This record gives sequence, C-alpha cells and structure tokens, in this order.
Amino acid sequence: MDLFDKCYSFTLADEVKAMGLYPFFHPISDNDGPVVYMNNRKTVMAGSNNYLGLTTDPRVKEAAVDATRKYGSGCSGSRFLNGTLDIHLELEEKLAAFTGKESALLYSTGFQTNQGAIVGIIKKGDYIVSDKENHASIIQGCLIAKASCGPNTLVKFAHNDMEDLERVVSGLPSDAGKLIVVDGVFSMNGDLINLPEVVRIARKYNARIMCDDAHSLGVLGTQGRGTASHFGLEKDTDIIMGTFSKSFASQGGFISSEKAVINYIRHNSPALIYNASMPAGQVAAVLKSLEIMQSEPERIRKVHYNANKMRQGLKSLGFSVVDGQTPIVPILINGEDMLFTFRFWRMLLDHGVFSNPVIFPAVPLGMQLIRLSFMATHEDEHLDFVLEQFEKIGRETKILGNVA
Ligand SMILES: Cc1ncc(COP(=O)(O)O)c(C=O)c1O
Repeated sequence: MDLFDKCYSFTLADEVKAMGLYPFFHPISDNDGPVVYMNNRKTVMAGSNNYLGLTTDPRVKEAAVDATRKYGSGCSGSRFLNGTLDIHLELEEKLAAFTGKESALLYSTGFQTNQGAIVGIIKKGDYIVSDKENHASIIQGCLIAKASCGPNTLVKFAHNDMEDLERVVSGLPSDAGKLIVVDGVFSMNGDLINLPEVVRIARKYNARIMCDDAHSLGVLGTQGRGTASHFGLEKDTDIIMGTFSKSFASQGGFISSEKAVINYIRHNSPALIYNASMPAGQVAAVLKSLEIMQSEPERIRKVHYNANKMRQGLKSLGFSVVDGQTPIVPILINGEDMLFTFRFWRMLLDHGVFSNPVIFPAVPLGMQLIRLSFMATHEDEHLDFVLEQFEKIGRETKILGNVA
C-alpha cells in the first residue's frame, strides 16, 4: 500500500463541491468589516471572530504598518535567539497586568499557545483533566503530552459537567500535579464554563486551572478581561490563555500566570523555543487593540447588544437558538444531515450572508449548527438584513415549520 493511496481515494470534498455545497476555503477579496466581498459580491459577514470590529480600524492598521516599517516584516528567529523585540516585552507586560497576573508569554498563534503551554507544564507523573469539548489546540497539546508522558496522563470529563469533573479529579493521586483545562467560552456553542465550580473542585483536590479565553477576552469581564474577571476569579484561575485572532484583531496568542510558571514554560515549551516569534506588525496591532478595548467600552456593550438582538430575532422567527452571553449565536439544525446544513449555509451565502456550518467533529455527532458571530461594527441595517434572509430561507427549506 502506497502512503498516498488514501489521498487518491479521498473523494468526499470533491463530491460535495460537485453539488455546489462545499462550504470551506471561500476567498474574501475585500474586507470592510461587517461587509466583505466574495465573488465580487457584497456579503454581510456574520461568521467572523472579529468581535470588536478592530481588524479594519484605521488606528490598528496604522499601528501595524508603522511597526512593520520600523522593525521589518518578520522576526526571522525564535524568541530565544534573535526574535525578541522590545514591543514583545511591552505587550507581555501589558497583558499580564490586563489579566491580573505577574507575567505573560507570547506565542506565534493561539493554537500553538495551548499546545505549547500544555506540553511545557505537564511532565511525567502529572495529570491533565480536560473538558471533552475543549478546542482542538488543547486536544493536540493533551495528545502530545500523553505521548511523551504516558497514557494515564490525560483524563477527560463530560462537557461542563461539574459532577463528572469532581468524580474524575477525586480519583487521581492526591500528591500528583494536576491541571484542569477548560475553554472559558466554548467556541462552537458559545457556552460559558462553570468556573466557580471548577475553582471549588480544583482547590479541594489540589489541582491547577488553565482557562482558554480565546472567545472571552474583549467580550466578558471588566473592560473585556475575560472569563475569570466575569466571575471575579482572576486570582483563582492559575493560567489564563488568550488568542489575538479574535477581539485583538491580529494573530498570535499568550498565556499569563505567576512569574515562576511563565519562566518555567518559557524554558520548556518546544512550540515557543523552536518557532519564529510574532512579527512586529501583529504585535503592534494587539497593543493598539488592547488600548482601544480599554478606552472604548461602548464597543463591548455594542457587540452584546448586537448578539442579543440576533438571538431574540432568530428565536422569534422560530429558529432553535442556543442561549448564551457572548457574540456567538449558534442555530441548531438538529435532526437534519450534513448536506442539509451545507445547503442552508449555501442558500444564506447566495442571499448575501456569510455564516459557518458546523458539523462533527467540531461538535458532537448528531449535532449540526449554523454558527453566527457578531461584531461591534454591525449596524441594525446589517442585522435586519440577516434576519430577513433567515426568515426567507427558513420558510423555503421548511426548517421553520420543523422547529418548535
Ligand atoms: C477556543 C480556542 N482556542 C484556541 C484557538 C486557536 O487560536 P488561533 O486561531 O488564534 O490560533 C481558537 C481559534 O479558533 C479557539 O477558538
């Protein structure tokens, strides 16, 4: 059997393309924020993680351009060697203060942050306790840790199920190092972790907590300081992780924690040591976004206003909307197959609305979603347009007749 045989016989994507229903890799040719251009067509973007609308903010773009002029387009090396800029250190200091921690560490992507931090802190004899619906980057970190530290290293608990978490943690050796890893806001469903219970259980059984705040920073808590701030639990959340690809309008990620922990991970994380550092333009965009996030709290209020309007609007049309407190508004397309979900997505696109269809393995088997996400820069005209298209397509596909 040739290594590539599986590639030659992989036809599923082509079959879906032939039906005109392939929903992935569609290019955007111009971006005005809430409106993008796809196939030269004006399309309302209702599927971006650009929650505060800062990727097109002239101040953020200008900061990125200025920094690129000053430092160049890339760092050409690892943070360890030639790849540390003074603005990397400035951003780490500001993020540590923003998240209420002593120290912070940047990685080049959010994905690498989770993967790299978990591998950096978990050693033989330690345990990771992971929510079953954690982001793929956490799962990858867990799998690498498991491969290098042994099969017992990783234990999982049922999604956001605190009874199951306590059952799992209480069964681990009391004197072993334990890290409970959770998403603060789960990326597909938009639901919030029960952090107060996680903290109670962690303290009872001597475990540490790492919270992925990719979808919470800029959205929840005081001035967008994230899930721990939302619950008033900054001190009890041992490691806070964030990405820059959402509210921070850039690319990259970070963890923040105690000084000793960050110092240890800094020297024990291959994803950091053997990877070129974040380019200056990306760093400067985050610095500017962080400043705007704190000085313009109306953006945070607006993104919540927009998401609430859409949750209510879609519910009153008759759609089955997953409740939440974030800009993520998922519509359940249960009882239908993957192709129906793709068809619904395609009809939305043809009507000028970009959304994200979500199927297994991004969500559990049997669950299908049209995942919408909203920004502070959506105006009522954009939102009303999306609602109108949903109503039309809901009736055409009879999904509105099918849901309670
Ligand atoms: C919860 C969560 N964690 C981590 C990541 C990875 O971040 P990035 O895409 O910025 O690398 C994402 C992004 O999809 C995410 O949703």
